[in-house]
Amino acid sequence: MTSIVCKNLSKKYDKDNLALDKVNLSLNMHGIFSLIGRNGAGKTTLFRVLSTTLLSTSGSAVIDGVNVLDGAREIRERIAVVPQEARPVAWMTPKETITSYLMWRGFTYTESVKRAVDALKLLGISKFSNVLNQRLSGGTKRKVLVATVIASDADIIFLDEPTTGLDPISRGELWDLLLKLKKTHFIFLTTHYLEEAEALADKIGILEDGKLLALGSLQELRKRMGFPHSIKILGKTKKISIKVGRTVKGRDGYTQIFTTEQEARRIGELLIKTKTKFSTNPVSLEDIFYYFVKKDVNEEEKNDEPEYW
Ligand SMILES: Nc1ncnc2c1ncn2[C@@H]1O[C@H](COP(=O)(O)OP(=O)(O)OP(=O)(O)O)[C@@H](O)[C@H]1O
Ligand SMILES: [Mg+2]
Repeated sequence: MTSIVCKNLSKKYDKDNLALDKVNLSLNMHGIFSLIGRNGAGKTTLFRVLSTTLLSTSGSAVIDGVNVLDGAREIRERIAVVPQEARPVAWMTPKETITSYLMWRGFTYTESVKRAVDALKLLGISKFSNVLNQRLSGGTKRKVLVATVIASDADIIFLDEPTTGLDPISRGELWDLLLKLKKTHFIFLTTHYLEEAEALADKIGILEDGKLLALGSLQELRKRMGFPHSIKILGKTKKISIKVGRTVKGRDGYTQIFTTEQEARRIGELLIKTKTKFSTNPVSLEDIFYYFVKKDVNEEEKNDEPEYW
């Protein structure tokens, strides 16, 4: 089990820019915690404060009882990190990159080489072992960094958007690897791919404008949203009143209703009667994300009022 506790954690880069706004986070878990949020939401800022590369302005962050401020050295020995913008050193090869990192962490040369070879194999990039990093594609460079942390003995792994820039097959392979790895490690993962968080994460945090809007497993988030059913209506339809729920207009013209099971049934029957095309599903993480983020934008909106379209 790994515990991460943030209390009123704030980070101000300059006087108008509050990147983290009193974040209260409490995790005590195995597996993967995924932080999702729009560009500029503060994910990397929180990631960097926790992985001890950035000082917070106020509040506290504690990992397994160790405060990131006074225990940074101790925490660094336990974590391995792939930052968002990191690239492996251009004039080294993947094998040298991993070997040197492991030796720096205290492994012997022989053990480091063995672990490097194994990790490169695990990531499916053995054939690039001795090619200079500068000659690798963007996705392969990301994989070299992921291989580096996987080869380490760290039981806490921080990955800031590890699958950005990976092709769909490589992304799937990395997912498989993370699913295996999460049995023995705690992984703090940020991503823009909501289906990735849905597939991998045991707990998900939604960050918006430096604030943690919601935290929980997918099931818990569905419950918190209060409307576990989604109805998507394609094309135009007559005005219909919704007793319980909330509507969202999609960019490509569809209308989506989030509502309760009972109300979904009632609306469904109505739509069948009026021969309207629609689909109905349990809400996805994407639905939940839009729900919480848009709700925050339109705080004055009342959910219990009937809505029309
Ligand atoms: N070094 C910095 N100096 C000043 N402001 C910064 C700095 N780094 C980030 N910010 C600002 O802090 C806010 C949060 O940025 P952050 O990088 O944490 O967001 P993010 O959620 O990781 O975004 P993305 O999804 O684009 O990676 C943004 O408004 C950003 O402009
Ligand atoms: Mg970021």
